[in-house]
Amino acid sequence: MKTVILFGSPGKNGNTRQLVDAASETLKEKRHDVRMLFLNDLNIRPCQGCHACLSKGICRINDDMKDIRKYMIESDLIIYATPVYWFGPSGQLKLVMDRSISFMDNDYNSRIKGKQAITLVTLGDENLDTVKPLLSMFQMTFDFLGLSYKGHIEVPGCMEKGRVKKAYIEKTKKLIRSLL
Ligand SMILES: Cc1cc2nc3c(=O)[nH]c(=O)nc-3n(C[C@H](O)[C@H](O)[C@H](O)COP(=O)(O)O)c2cc1C
Repeated sequence: MKTVILFGSPGKNGNTRQLVDAASETLKEKRHDVRMLFLNDLNIRPCQGCHACLSKGICRINDDMKDIRKYMIESDLIIYATPVYWFGPSGQLKLVMDRSISFMDNDYNSRIKGKQAITLVTLGDENLDTVKPLLSMFQMTFDFLGLSYKGHIEVPGCMEKGRVKKAYIEKTKKLIRSLL
């Protein structure tokens, strides 16, 4: 199984990274191919809303989304990992989600139908109501893209670094194992 991780946090050693490492290690233990994309390091321009991509799936913008797109197409599993920023995903991940319009064709059929997706999310708030808008955004996005939403982990109480408790690491590993 090939996996691409869309790592949306700017913090390479933050809370979201703890979850992503747990997922990645579990996949690698079973010799699965994992590609981690640090979106913050990449050049991803905002979608210009021209719809030129719909006919052939080729975006007019020449930037790193070309490679991200290729890795997403090659993968069986796409992991969306992000901190909650203002009740939504980080800007880094939102850019990729907006540019994912290029996965749709002129009739709004998805070119990446059937792939699996999971989401790994950390947030400062102790109250999980905060994450509800983001989870419904993921669900509706995946429905539109024809991705099968296989599971999600949310970790509250992550205002400072290193706040992800072992129980959530184990939960993440368990979720990944359930897909293998
Ligand atoms: C710009 C910004 C916006 C944030 N917005 C929220 C929010 O709306 N709700 C929340 O619970 N936490 C919010 N947080 C806290 C982060 O989601 C939380 O600290 C997260 O674990 C950081 O992940 P990281 O360590 O991987 O960077 C925000 C943090 C930043 C920097």
